[in-house]
Amino acid sequence: MASPLILVAGARPNFMKVAPVLRALASRDHHFAPALVHTGQHYDEGMSGVFFRQLGIPEPDVHLGVGSGSHGAQTARILAAFEERLLAFSTRPRGVVVVGDVNSTMACALAAVKLGIPVAHVEAGLRSFDRSMPEEINRVVTDAVADLLLVSEPAGEENLHREGIPPQRIRYTGNVMIDTLARELDAAKELAVAASLGLSPGSFAYVTLHRPSNVDSPERLEALVGFLEALAQRLPVVFPVHPRTTERLRSAGLAGRLESAAGVRLSQPLGYRESLALMAAARLAVTDSGGVQEETTFLGIPCLTLRRNTERPVTVSAGTNTVVGDDLALATQLVDEILAGRYKRGRQIPGWDGRAAERVVDALVEAWD
Ligand code: UD1
Repeated sequence: MASPLILVAGARPNFMKVAPVLRALASRDHHFAPALVHTGQHYDEGMSGVFFRQLGIPEPDVHLGVGSGSHGAQTARILAAFEERLLAFSTRPRGVVVVGDVNSTMACALAAVKLGIPVAHVEAGLRSFDRSMPEEINRVVTDAVADLLLVSEPAGEENLHREGIPPQRIRYTGNVMIDTLARELDAAKELAVAASLGLSPGSFAYVTLHRPSNVDSPERLEALVGFLEALAQRLPVVFPVHPRTTERLRSAGLAGRLESAAGVRLSQPLGYRESLALMAAARLAVTDSGGVQEETTFLGIPCLTLRRNTERPVTVSAGTNTVVGDDLALATQLVDEILAGRYKRGRQIPGWDGRAAERVVDALVEAWD
């Protein structure tokens, strides 16, 4: 009899990672009955619903509906609600698959292992070595309790070996997010999003900023607004604004200044395809997102990361990414290099080939079926 295999998704960057794994599970023979659990960490149409529709993700089998909250409160609500649902399955789940590094990832991994249900972590081993980032805590805790560590880039394997994780629990599967990108790119391009904004390909900067380290301090946020105003003097800036950033811009009294900056086009958060279309057509990206660092490397688009570190170092060593730290003067200098055609070019990364989810399913079948 098939036993439930639970996949967890909670926040925006999870959805493009579960989509290819669910699809690969559906196309293969095994004894799992896959079930998707949505924790509800993200709940808005623009942060969740649109991703389900565009990526063809089935309706979740279970919706925990936890919503927003402080880290402790949100994590605790997910833990309690997920535990209850795991216990409610009439057949004991064979395993739980968590992806990425959000609060839902860590909370669901903990709930499962405490019930003795094995956990697989997709995107294991990434480390920024910066424990002031909530995601770093989530990564370290999830990897410490997971049974199967499925790694997306070379640094992940090195980190897990150094932490003493037995090699037989680690598999290099590659990057499932790139599976989704490769599958969706043509459909995204057909939307001609840049053209609908009156922008020609290669003529604009694509910006995403939402990390607490950038947006939660009014001083830092003001410096970033100044940087974007100056950037927009050089080329148009397209900036879909995350709800956290919208809220912080308002409370810092900076929203009006950014809205009226010449050359800056703000929007609500975009759907997956709209965002990908803009990224693929941009001259450069400015970001603090983990996913955008990887996606721009795959697409060969120059990326300036406004953070002090990255847990995805292959995007710097082999890709198109530069981590500029707090140094906005350095970012400006790199923009000059990019516009002058003097910026580095990246190369492709092993396992970022559109088939990572197949290898994830291989590992799950081998370990648990
Ligand atoms: C979360 C993840 C982060 C990821 C980001 C992508 C953690 C610790 N953080 O950060 O790793 O990069 O998602 O988006 O898990 N809100 C809405 N609508 C929603 C969801 C949130 O308006 O659908 C607002 C709420 O006011 C909330 C705030 O955004 O308080 C922040 O949401 P939260 O999930 O706490 O963290 P993110 O900053 O989104």
